[in-house]
Amino acid sequence: MPALETQLLLDHPELWSGPKVVLGPPGADVAQLGEGTFWIPDAHERASAARGDHVVVIGGVTLDAPAPTAIVYLPKGNARRDLALALAAANAQRLVLVGHVKAGIKSAKKGLGGLGRVTRVEHGRHCQLFVAEVSPTVKSATMGSATMGSATMGSATMGSATIVSATDGTADGPGTTSSATDRATGGHAAAAGFALRERRFTLDAEGLTLVSLPGVFAEGRLDDATALLLAHLELPSTGRLLDLGCGAGPLGLAAKRRASGLEVWLADADDFAVEAARRGAAANGLDVEVRSSDLYEALPGRFDVIVSNPPFHHGVGTEYEVTRRLIREAPAHLHPRGELWLVANAFLPWAETLDEVFAEVTTIAETRRFRVVRARRPR
Ligand SMILES: C[S@@+](CC[C@H](N)C(=O)[O-])C[C@H]1O[C@@H](n2cnc3c(N)ncnc32)[C@H](O)[C@@H]1O
Repeated sequence: MPALETQLLLDHPELWSGPKVVLGPPGADVAQLGEGTFWIPDAHERASAARGDHVVVIGGVTLDAPAPTAIVYLPKGNARRDLALALAAANAQRLVLVGHVKAGIKSAKKGLGGLGRVTRVEHGRHCQLFVAEVSPTVKSATMGSATMGSATMGSATMGSATIVSATDGTADGPGTTSSATDRATGGHAAAAGFALRERRFTLDAEGLTLVSLPGVFAEGRLDDATALLLAHLELPSTGRLLDLGCGAGPLGLAAKRRASGLEVWLADADDFAVEAARRGAAANGLDVEVRSSDLYEALPGRFDVIVSNPPFHHGVGTEYEVTRRLIREAPAHLHPRGELWLVANAFLPWAETLDEVFAEVTTIAETRRFRVVRARRPR
Protein backbone atom coordinates (compact mmCIF):
# COMPACT_ATOMS: atom_id res chain seq x y z
CA MET A 1 0.00 0.00 0.00
CA PRO A 2 1.61 3.32 -1.04
CA ALA A 3 2.05 6.08 1.55
CA LEU A 4 -0.95 8.38 1.96
CA GLU A 5 0.98 11.20 0.31
CA THR A 6 1.59 9.01 -2.75
CA GLN A 7 -2.07 8.03 -2.84
CA LEU A 8 -3.09 11.69 -2.95
CA LEU A 9 -0.61 12.28 -5.79
CA LEU A 10 -1.99 9.28 -7.67
CA ASP A 11 -5.47 10.82 -7.39
CA HIS A 12 -4.18 13.86 -9.37
CA PRO A 13 -1.79 12.63 -12.08
CA GLU A 14 -2.64 15.66 -14.25
CA LEU A 15 -0.57 17.79 -11.85
CA TRP A 16 2.71 15.95 -12.26
CA SER A 17 2.81 13.38 -15.05
CA GLY A 18 5.62 13.83 -17.59
CA PRO A 19 9.32 14.52 -16.95
CA LYS A 20 9.94 15.28 -13.29
CA VAL A 21 12.27 15.19 -10.38
CA VAL A 22 10.88 13.80 -7.12
CA LEU A 23 12.45 14.79 -3.82
CA GLY A 24 12.21 12.47 -0.82
CA PRO A 25 9.59 9.87 -1.80
CA PRO A 26 9.37 6.65 0.23
CA GLY A 27 11.61 4.21 -1.66
CA ALA A 28 8.85 1.63 -1.96
CA ASP A 29 6.59 4.11 -3.83
CA VAL A 30 9.03 5.03 -6.60
CA ALA A 31 7.60 2.44 -8.98
CA GLN A 32 4.13 4.04 -8.72
CA LEU A 33 5.28 7.44 -9.93
CA GLY A 34 6.58 6.53 -13.38
CA GLU A 35 9.70 7.86 -15.02
CA GLY A 36 11.85 10.57 -13.49
CA THR A 37 14.80 11.32 -11.25
CA PHE A 38 14.19 10.40 -7.63
CA TRP A 39 16.34 12.15 -5.02
CA ILE A 40 16.32 10.01 -1.88
CA PRO A 41 19.03 11.11 0.57
CA ASP A 42 18.62 8.02 2.79
CA ALA A 43 20.27 4.62 2.21
CA HIS A 44 17.43 2.71 3.90
CA GLU A 45 14.79 4.22 1.60
CA ARG A 46 17.05 3.97 -1.46
CA ALA A 47 17.43 0.24 -0.85
CA SER A 48 13.72 -0.34 -1.44
CA ALA A 49 13.41 1.90 -4.51
CA ALA A 50 12.77 0.28 -7.89
CA ARG A 51 15.19 1.27 -10.65
CA GLY A 52 14.89 0.95 -14.38
CA ASP A 53 15.64 2.55 -17.73
CA HIS A 54 13.54 5.61 -17.01
CA VAL A 55 13.85 5.66 -13.24
CA VAL A 56 17.01 7.16 -11.80
CA VAL A 57 17.51 7.03 -8.04
CA ILE A 58 20.13 9.31 -6.52
CA GLY A 59 21.17 10.46 -3.06
CA GLY A 60 23.54 13.12 -1.80
CA VAL A 61 23.14 16.48 -0.10
CA THR A 62 22.35 18.50 -3.16
CA LEU A 63 20.70 17.98 -6.52
CA ASP A 64 21.30 18.68 -10.19
CA ALA A 65 18.38 17.23 -12.17
CA PRO A 66 16.55 19.94 -14.13
CA ALA A 67 12.95 19.06 -15.08
CA PRO A 68 9.76 21.01 -15.73
CA THR A 69 8.13 19.71 -12.53
CA ALA A 70 9.46 18.87 -9.08
CA ILE A 71 7.43 16.88 -6.57
CA VAL A 72 8.52 17.43 -2.98
CA TYR A 73 7.48 15.04 -0.22
CA LEU A 74 7.44 17.19 2.91
CA PRO A 75 10.47 16.10 4.95
CA LYS A 76 10.67 16.14 8.73
CA GLY A 77 11.76 19.44 10.26
CA ASN A 78 11.87 22.98 8.92
CA ALA A 79 15.57 22.90 7.98
CA ARG A 80 15.09 19.94 5.62
CA ARG A 81 11.83 21.36 4.32
CA ASP A 82 13.45 24.65 3.34
CA LEU A 83 16.40 22.86 1.82
CA ALA A 84 14.18 20.49 -0.23
CA LEU A 85 12.07 23.39 -1.51
CA ALA A 86 15.18 25.40 -2.41
CA LEU A 87 16.64 22.44 -4.31
CA ALA A 88 13.31 21.88 -6.07
CA ALA A 89 13.08 25.56 -7.06
CA ALA A 90 16.63 25.46 -8.42
CA ASN A 91 15.72 22.52 -10.67
CA ALA A 92 12.11 23.06 -11.76
CA GLN A 93 9.59 25.70 -12.73
CA ARG A 94 6.56 24.06 -11.18
CA LEU A 95 6.60 22.69 -7.64
CA VAL A 96 4.18 20.14 -6.22
CA LEU A 97 4.46 19.88 -2.44
CA VAL A 98 2.67 17.02 -0.70
CA GLY A 99 2.62 16.10 2.97
CA HIS A 100 0.68 14.70 5.88
CA VAL A 101 -1.30 17.06 8.09
CA LYS A 102 0.50 15.64 11.15
CA ALA A 103 3.85 16.45 9.54
CA GLY A 104 2.92 20.14 9.29
CA ILE A 105 1.91 20.44 5.64
CA LYS A 106 -0.48 23.28 6.48
CA SER A 107 2.30 25.57 7.70
CA ALA A 108 4.62 24.41 4.91
CA LYS A 109 2.38 26.28 2.48
CA LYS A 110 3.94 29.52 3.81
CA GLY A 111 7.42 28.35 2.82
CA LEU A 112 6.16 27.44 -0.61
CA GLY A 113 4.48 30.84 -0.99
CA GLY A 114 7.91 32.48 -0.62
CA LEU A 115 8.97 30.80 -3.85
CA GLY A 116 6.12 31.74 -6.10
CA ARG A 117 2.38 31.83 -6.56
CA VAL A 118 0.46 28.87 -5.11
CA THR A 119 -1.98 27.96 -7.87
CA ARG A 120 -3.74 24.86 -6.64
CA VAL A 121 -4.56 23.04 -3.44
CA GLU A 122 -5.91 19.51 -3.04
CA HIS A 123 -6.92 17.69 0.16
CA GLY A 124 -7.57 14.08 1.06
CA ARG A 125 -6.26 11.01 2.85
CA HIS A 126 -5.12 13.20 5.81
CA CYS A 127 -2.75 14.96 3.40
CA GLN A 128 -2.61 18.19 1.45
CA LEU A 129 -1.01 19.01 -1.86
CA PHE A 130 -0.01 22.45 -3.14
CA VAL A 131 1.14 23.47 -6.59
CA ALA A 132 3.25 26.60 -7.10
CA GLU A 133 4.86 28.23 -10.11
CA VAL A 134 8.37 29.38 -9.18
CA SER A 135 8.74 33.12 -9.69
CA PRO A 136 11.53 34.14 -12.10
CA THR A 137 13.41 36.14 -9.44
CA VAL A 138 13.62 33.14 -7.11
CA LYS A 139 14.60 30.99 -10.05
CA SER A 140 17.58 33.18 -10.95
CA ALA A 141 18.65 33.37 -7.27
CA THR A 142 18.74 29.58 -6.96
CA MET A 143 20.17 28.79 -10.38
CA GLY A 144 23.74 27.63 -10.43
CA SER A 145 24.11 27.51 -6.69
CA ALA A 146 22.37 24.21 -5.98
CA THR A 147 24.71 22.23 -8.14
CA MET A 148 28.04 23.03 -6.57
CA GLY A 149 29.75 20.13 -4.90
CA SER A 150 33.01 18.41 -4.26
CA ALA A 151 32.68 14.67 -3.69
CA THR A 152 30.23 12.18 -5.11
CA MET A 153 28.11 9.38 -3.72
CA GLY A 154 26.82 7.10 -6.43
CA SER A 155 25.57 9.51 -9.06
CA ALA A 156 24.80 12.17 -6.48
CA THR A 157 26.60 15.37 -5.76
CA MET A 158 27.91 15.50 -2.23
CA GLY A 159 29.04 18.64 -0.49
CA SER A 160 28.19 22.19 -1.32
CA ALA A 161 30.34 25.25 -1.47
CA THR A 162 27.63 27.86 -1.09
CA ILE A 163 28.54 28.73 2.46
CA VAL A 164 29.55 32.14 3.68
CA SER A 165 30.60 33.18 7.14
CA ALA A 166 28.30 34.62 9.76
CA THR A 167 28.97 33.59 13.33
CA ASP A 168 26.04 33.50 15.70
CA GLY A 169 28.15 32.42 18.68
CA THR A 170 25.30 30.86 20.62
CA ALA A 171 26.04 28.27 23.31
CA ASP A 172 24.19 24.98 22.83
CA GLY A 173 24.11 22.32 25.46
CA PRO A 174 26.60 20.89 27.92
CA GLY A 175 30.22 21.60 27.15
CA THR A 176 29.56 22.78 23.64
CA THR A 177 29.91 26.09 21.85
CA SER A 178 28.68 26.64 18.36
CA SER A 179 28.78 28.86 15.33
CA ALA A 180 26.85 28.76 12.11
CA THR A 181 27.59 29.59 8.53
CA ASP A 182 24.50 30.31 6.54
CA ARG A 183 23.81 32.52 3.59
CA ALA A 184 20.04 32.38 3.99
CA THR A 185 18.78 34.88 6.52
CA GLY A 186 15.48 33.79 8.09
CA GLY A 187 12.56 32.87 5.85
CA HIS A 188 13.18 30.69 2.91
CA ALA A 189 16.64 29.54 1.87
CA ALA A 190 15.83 29.84 -1.82
CA ALA A 191 14.74 33.43 -1.52
CA ALA A 192 18.31 34.37 -0.61
CA GLY A 193 19.97 31.83 -2.89
CA PHE A 194 20.50 28.18 -2.10
CA ALA A 195 22.76 27.57 0.88
CA LEU A 196 23.72 24.37 2.63
CA ARG A 197 23.81 25.53 6.21
CA GLU A 198 26.77 24.25 8.16
CA ARG A 199 26.95 24.59 11.93
CA ARG A 200 30.17 23.90 13.78
CA PHE A 201 30.27 23.15 17.48
CA THR A 202 32.99 22.07 19.85
CA LEU A 203 33.03 19.28 22.40
CA ASP A 204 35.36 20.98 24.82
CA ALA A 205 36.06 17.88 26.91
CA GLU A 206 37.08 15.90 23.82
CA GLY A 207 38.92 18.72 22.07
CA LEU A 208 36.74 18.12 19.01
CA THR A 209 35.01 20.36 16.50
CA LEU A 210 31.91 18.77 15.02
CA VAL A 211 30.02 19.82 11.91
CA SER A 212 26.28 19.63 11.58
CA LEU A 213 24.11 20.04 8.48
CA PRO A 214 20.36 20.67 8.16
CA GLY A 215 18.28 17.98 9.80
CA VAL A 216 21.21 16.01 11.20
CA PHE A 217 20.36 14.63 14.64
CA ALA A 218 20.66 17.12 17.54
CA GLU A 219 21.57 19.89 15.04
CA GLY A 220 24.60 21.69 16.33
CA ARG A 221 24.80 20.40 19.91
CA LEU A 222 25.69 17.26 21.83
CA ASP A 223 22.61 15.20 22.66
CA ASP A 224 22.22 14.46 26.41
CA ALA A 225 21.98 10.69 25.87
CA THR A 226 25.08 10.72 23.67
CA ALA A 227 26.90 12.73 26.37
CA LEU A 228 26.04 10.06 28.97
CA LEU A 229 27.32 7.29 26.73
CA LEU A 230 30.53 9.23 26.04
CA ALA A 231 31.08 9.75 29.76
CA HIS A 232 30.98 5.99 30.46
CA LEU A 233 32.32 4.40 27.29
CA GLU A 234 35.34 2.13 27.89
CA LEU A 235 37.55 1.69 24.85
CA PRO A 236 40.23 -0.81 23.93
CA SER A 237 43.44 0.79 22.68
CA THR A 238 43.42 -1.21 19.42
CA GLY A 239 40.94 -3.14 17.28
CA ARG A 240 37.95 -2.04 15.18
CA LEU A 241 35.14 0.20 16.43
CA LEU A 242 31.88 1.00 14.64
CA ASP A 243 29.71 4.04 15.43
CA LEU A 244 26.39 2.97 13.90
CA GLY A 245 23.86 5.75 13.23
CA CYS A 246 26.70 8.24 13.64
CA GLY A 247 24.86 11.52 12.94
CA ALA A 248 27.51 14.26 13.02
CA GLY A 249 29.87 11.66 14.53
CA PRO A 250 30.35 12.61 18.20
CA LEU A 251 30.82 8.98 19.33
CA GLY A 252 33.11 7.69 16.59
CA LEU A 253 35.21 10.85 16.36
CA ALA A 254 35.64 11.05 20.14
CA ALA A 255 36.65 7.36 20.19
CA LYS A 256 39.32 7.99 17.55
CA ARG A 257 40.53 11.07 19.40
CA ARG A 258 40.79 9.12 22.69
CA ALA A 259 42.32 5.96 21.24
CA SER A 260 44.28 6.72 18.07
CA GLY A 261 45.23 3.02 17.69
CA LEU A 262 41.59 2.10 17.00
CA GLU A 263 40.37 1.59 13.45
CA VAL A 264 37.14 3.60 13.57
CA TRP A 265 34.18 3.32 11.20
CA LEU A 266 31.18 5.66 11.24
CA ALA A 267 27.99 4.86 9.34
CA ASP A 268 24.57 6.41 8.86
CA ALA A 269 21.67 5.93 6.47
CA ASP A 270 21.17 9.69 6.14
CA ASP A 271 23.40 11.31 3.49
CA PHE A 272 23.47 14.60 5.40
CA ALA A 273 24.80 12.79 8.49
CA VAL A 274 27.45 11.03 6.38
CA GLU A 275 28.55 14.34 4.87
CA ALA A 276 28.54 16.03 8.31
CA ALA A 277 30.64 13.22 9.84
CA ARG A 278 33.10 13.41 6.93
CA ARG A 279 33.46 17.15 7.40
CA GLY A 280 33.90 16.62 11.15
CA ALA A 281 36.64 14.03 10.60
CA ALA A 282 38.41 16.43 8.19
CA ALA A 283 38.03 19.39 10.58
CA ASN A 284 39.87 17.40 13.26
CA GLY A 285 42.36 15.65 11.00
CA LEU A 286 41.06 12.24 12.11
CA ASP A 287 41.68 9.23 9.90
CA VAL A 288 38.37 7.32 10.03
CA GLU A 289 36.08 5.54 7.55
CA VAL A 290 32.65 7.16 7.05
CA ARG A 291 30.05 5.19 5.08
CA SER A 292 26.51 5.54 3.87
CA SER A 293 24.90 2.34 5.09
CA ASP A 294 21.47 0.98 5.96
CA LEU A 295 22.52 -0.53 9.31
CA TYR A 296 25.36 -3.01 8.54
CA GLU A 297 24.60 -3.39 4.83
CA ALA A 298 27.73 -1.55 3.52
CA LEU A 299 30.13 -2.43 6.34
CA PRO A 300 32.74 -5.13 5.75
CA GLY A 301 34.37 -7.28 8.42
CA ARG A 302 33.79 -7.74 12.13
CA PHE A 303 34.18 -5.19 14.91
CA ASP A 304 35.46 -5.33 18.49
CA VAL A 305 33.10 -2.58 19.66
CA ILE A 306 29.82 -1.34 18.20
CA VAL A 307 28.58 1.85 19.80
CA SER A 308 25.28 3.58 19.11
CA ASN A 309 22.72 6.08 20.26
CA PRO A 310 20.21 4.23 18.10
CA PRO A 311 17.40 5.74 16.05
CA PHE A 312 13.82 5.56 17.21
CA HIS A 313 12.03 8.24 15.21
CA HIS A 314 10.98 7.59 11.68
CA GLY A 315 8.78 10.05 9.80
CA VAL A 316 6.22 11.36 12.23
CA GLY A 317 5.88 8.14 14.25
CA THR A 318 8.02 6.21 16.72
CA GLU A 319 9.87 3.25 15.33
CA TYR A 320 11.73 0.63 17.33
CA GLU A 321 12.16 -2.01 14.65
CA VAL A 322 15.35 -0.55 13.20
CA THR A 323 17.04 -0.72 16.62
CA ARG A 324 15.79 -4.27 17.18
CA ARG A 325 17.44 -5.16 13.86
CA LEU A 326 20.61 -3.33 14.93
CA ILE A 327 20.74 -5.56 18.04
CA ARG A 328 19.70 -8.84 16.36
CA GLU A 329 22.23 -8.44 13.55
CA ALA A 330 25.07 -7.24 15.81
CA PRO A 331 26.55 -10.70 16.58
CA ALA A 332 27.20 -11.31 12.88
CA HIS A 333 29.32 -8.14 12.82
CA LEU A 334 31.09 -8.54 16.17
CA HIS A 335 34.14 -10.65 17.00
CA PRO A 336 33.17 -13.42 19.48
CA ARG A 337 34.48 -11.31 22.40
CA GLY A 338 33.10 -8.06 20.96
CA GLU A 339 30.81 -5.61 22.77
CA LEU A 340 27.72 -3.61 21.84
CA TRP A 341 27.27 -0.30 23.72
CA LEU A 342 23.91 1.45 23.53
CA VAL A 343 22.27 4.40 25.19
CA ALA A 344 18.50 4.58 25.35
CA ASN A 345 15.62 6.11 27.22
CA ALA A 346 15.57 4.73 30.76
CA PHE A 347 12.51 2.56 30.06
CA LEU A 348 14.63 0.75 27.45
CA PRO A 349 12.11 -0.35 24.83
CA TRP A 350 14.41 -3.05 23.44
CA ALA A 351 15.51 -4.73 26.72
CA GLU A 352 13.90 -8.02 25.70
CA THR A 353 15.70 -8.04 22.38
CA LEU A 354 19.05 -7.49 24.10
CA ASP A 355 18.38 -10.43 26.43
CA GLU A 356 17.32 -12.65 23.53
CA VAL A 357 20.54 -11.96 21.66
CA PHE A 358 23.23 -11.55 24.36
CA ALA A 359 23.98 -13.66 27.45
CA GLU A 360 25.52 -10.73 29.34
CA VAL A 361 23.70 -7.37 29.38
CA THR A 362 25.00 -4.88 31.96
CA THR A 363 23.66 -1.45 32.89
CA ILE A 364 26.76 0.72 33.04
CA ALA A 365 25.09 4.02 33.92
CA GLU A 366 21.57 5.22 34.59
CA THR A 367 19.93 8.60 35.09
CA ARG A 368 16.24 9.43 35.41
CA ARG A 369 16.12 9.86 31.62
CA PHE A 370 18.67 7.53 30.07
CA ARG A 371 20.43 4.21 30.49
CA VAL A 372 23.77 3.06 29.07
CA VAL A 373 24.05 -0.69 28.49
CA ARG A 374 26.90 -2.95 27.42
CA ALA A 375 25.99 -6.29 25.81
CA ARG A 376 28.42 -9.15 25.22
CA ARG A 377 28.62 -12.92 24.73
CA PRO A 378 26.13 -13.46 21.87
CA ARG A 379 23.94 -16.48 22.59
C1 LIG B 1 19.61 9.15 17.73
S1 LIG B 1 20.56 9.58 16.29
C2 LIG B 1 22.22 9.51 16.93
C3 LIG B 1 23.21 10.30 16.14
C4 LIG B 1 24.63 10.38 16.73
N1 LIG B 1 25.19 9.07 16.97
C5 LIG B 1 24.62 11.18 18.00
O1 LIG B 1 24.72 10.57 19.06
O2 LIG B 1 24.50 12.42 17.94
C6 LIG B 1 20.38 8.09 15.33
C7 LIG B 1 21.00 8.12 13.93
O3 LIG B 1 20.69 6.87 13.29
C8 LIG B 1 20.53 7.11 11.89
N2 LIG B 1 19.78 5.99 11.29
C9 LIG B 1 18.43 5.82 11.24
N3 LIG B 1 18.13 4.68 10.59
C10 LIG B 1 19.29 4.13 10.21
C11 LIG B 1 19.64 2.94 9.48
N4 LIG B 1 18.69 2.11 9.03
N5 LIG B 1 20.94 2.68 9.26
C12 LIG B 1 21.90 3.53 9.72
N6 LIG B 1 21.64 4.66 10.41
C13 LIG B 1 20.35 4.96 10.65
C14 LIG B 1 19.83 8.45 11.85
O4 LIG B 1 20.00 9.07 10.58
C15 LIG B 1 20.52 9.21 12.99
O5 LIG B 1 21.61 9.96 12.53
